[in-house]
Amino acid sequence: MDASGGGGDHLGFEHNMTTFLTCSPDHYGILYEINPWMSKSRGVDSNKARQQWDSLYKLLTETLGITVEKLSPVQGLPDMVFTANAGLVVGNLAGDAPRFFMSRFRHDVRQGECLHYEKWFCMRGFQIEVPPPNIYFEGEGDALWVGEKLFLGCQIRTDSVAAPWLAERLNRRVYPLGLVDPRFYHLDTCFCPLDNKRVLYYPNAFSPSSQKIIKEMIPCPMPIEKADALNFGANAIVVQNHLVLNAGCTNLSKTLMDEGLTVHPIDLSEFIKAGGSAKCLILKISDV
Ligand code: ARG
Repeated sequence: MDASGGGGDHLGFEHNMTTFLTCSPDHYGILYEINPWMSKSRGVDSNKARQQWDSLYKLLTETLGITVEKLSPVQGLPDMVFTANAGLVVGNLAGDAPRFFMSRFRHDVRQGECLHYEKWFCMRGFQIEVPPPNIYFEGEGDALWVGEKLFLGCQIRTDSVAAPWLAERLNRRVYPLGLVDPRFYHLDTCFCPLDNKRVLYYPNAFSPSSQKIIKEMIPCPMPIEKADALNFGANAIVVQNHLVLNAGCTNLSKTLMDEGLTVHPIDLSEFIKAGGSAKCLILKISDV
């Protein structure tokens, strides 16, 4: 797939504090099945989910000193806990309002979340960008920056045509990457930028041509093993030199420590039942 869009300065929030948006798991559960991890018959242990979510919140706020906002959970919208899918927040170097590129979910069962995201961001003065009606886009779950380049996971949830739409609105290059394994249905399940050069990724989750794009466009692509990928190792939260990821990614943690990173493993098994882990549970709303 070809890259599209323009070039120029990075659009980040370099000079602000990191802030994440989360949504507590009050109404979290497996009420439908829209990815291979979800099984209604397996269900969720709500107390355990709450404990795991609270531990993540505590780690982010108390250990890492991150500002974490909470969106009110809504009954009947169990996946709202995965705020990474609300949309994509993009800063503005000109000092105008930051923009919120809202999601348009492929599955109707999640579309009801959008109204609540729109309200939250609108009330805080973000400029709202809505995808055209014929384009599915699932936010930061499928859209990740590596320096000035935006990579977009496509074909399972987000449409490839979301790439030229974003490229035009952002005036930046957007690289669509074809996802081919339904277990890795969002980009953030198999692709994790560590900084402007290094990216963890699980090669088999991508089409051969997209694997080529990753190797050509990213200065230091770091393939991870299948076992770590299936344990959501690439679904990590990265804050400077700190990395928060699901417990049990032993080989990956060792590699990361050798790279000079501090690894914070955390048990998120209840969220893996819905196909999500650390990174899916937060949305970056401003950056360092
Ligand atoms: N059950 C949710 C879905 O299938 C999980 C979303 C996980 N989010 C993510 N950013 N990968 O949509």
